[in-house]
Amino acid sequence: MYNCKAIKAIFVVLLVCFVTAEYNEERAQDYMYVSALVYCPPVNLTANQCGAATISTNKRGFVYLYSYDNQNSKNPIYMSIFERNEEKEIVVAFSGTITTKQLINEFANSLPVAYDIHNVTDALVFEYFYKHYSETFRQGMLGDLQTILNKFRYRNYKIIFTGHSLGGALAMHAIADAIQEGLLVNNKAELWTFGQPRVGNQEFLDAFVSEIDQYYRVVNNKDIVAHVPPCITDLKGGCLKKGLFPIFPYHAPTEVFYTNNMTDHVVCSHEEGEDQECSRKLNNISVDDHKFYWGVEIGNYFTYEEEIEVNENRKAGDVIEFTSE
Ligand SMILES: *[C@@H]1O[C@H](CO)[C@@H](O)[C@H](O)[C@H]1NC(C)=O
Ligand SMILES: *[C@@H]1O[C@H](CO)[C@@H](O)[C@H](O)[C@H]1NC(C)=O
Ligand SMILES: *[C@@H]1O[C@H](CO)[C@@H](O)[C@H](O)[C@H]1NC(C)=O
Ligand SMILES: *[C@@H]1O[C@H](CO)[C@@H](O)[C@H](O)[C@H]1NC(C)=O
Repeated sequence: MYNCKAIKAIFVVLLVCFVTAEYNEERAQDYMYVSALVYCPPVNLTANQCGAATISTNKRGFVYLYSYDNQNSKNPIYMSIFERNEEKEIVVAFSGTITTKQLINEFANSLPVAYDIHNVTDALVFEYFYKHYSETFRQGMLGDLQTILNKFRYRNYKIIFTGHSLGGALAMHAIADAIQEGLLVNNKAELWTFGQPRVGNQEFLDAFVSEIDQYYRVVNNKDIVAHVPPCITDLKGGCLKKGLFPIFPYHAPTEVFYTNNMTDHVVCSHEEGEDQECSRKLNNISVDDHKFYWGVEIGNYFTYEEEIEVNENRKAGDVIEFTSE
């Protein structure tokens, strides 16, 4: 894909073309690891006590800045913000919830509500994700992001939003809001999600998706959560965007569809978020495929012992110290 801009120089008009970044699996894995880290309670995260997740993200250069949680909830959800200075990135990451089955029930029964934090005609979203975002994280996140973006040293940084499962839905709400608040006009914004559910209808997506520099929605094979809340289908099984139902749930492009235990993938349509040749063609859905991405059990990874190869002398439970510039 090429993006071209005509640039007028003094005597000539130059046609400058940029190659739109291709899907980069290594980057997807980086954000998968940070999406796994943020399932760890912030009290442990800030103390570097999140087992293998601490080691993996430390190795990848993520440095902790801020955290929030939905305190006192029986279903804890967390958001943390990181900087990654070599890559010049700020990363806003949301956790999902731990019990997948309960979560799927919540998703499946979620009601559509008007998207009313911005004035977008006919935009509808599912209340479950929207409420968590707008009531728990919105205020703190917008404030912290503003503080970060006001600093000169971050002027060229990309702002990455990421999350797994419910966390992917929250990441989508966060980028949608930050874009519409006008916070990201000077910075590139990206969204990378793993096993993300449908968040709202096409009208909601139209309000912000074109402003996202790169959006990749990674789906592991039969991951059930990529299919909830279910879309309304036509006779051929394609998802519909309009009709007589209260809401037509829809995904935005670009899906990255993995098979064979995450060893093969295809980058799906850049125009059509519900590509019939990708995860939509699988009818048999799986909870395990939702839990594991590249062999990492994302929602539980912070309880895993530290990876031995990083430091042979380290034992599980040791406090890990790391420095940032
Ligand atoms: C997380 O922190 C709490 C409070 O400091 C502590 O009791 C708990 O053992 C920690 N958990 C892990 C996995 O380190
Ligand atoms: C929302 O947008 C519509 C159409 O542009 C406009 O008529 C209406 O006054 C707006 N409402 C608010 C609350 O800004
Ligand atoms: C669906 O997948 C499960 C395991 O993922 C398998 O046990 C079952 O036989 C499959 N069912 C069909 C109808 O393919
Ligand atoms: C899938 O791949 C992971 C490594 O990425 C491996 O640990 C796991 O055993 C594999 N699972 C199967 C069923 O092959």
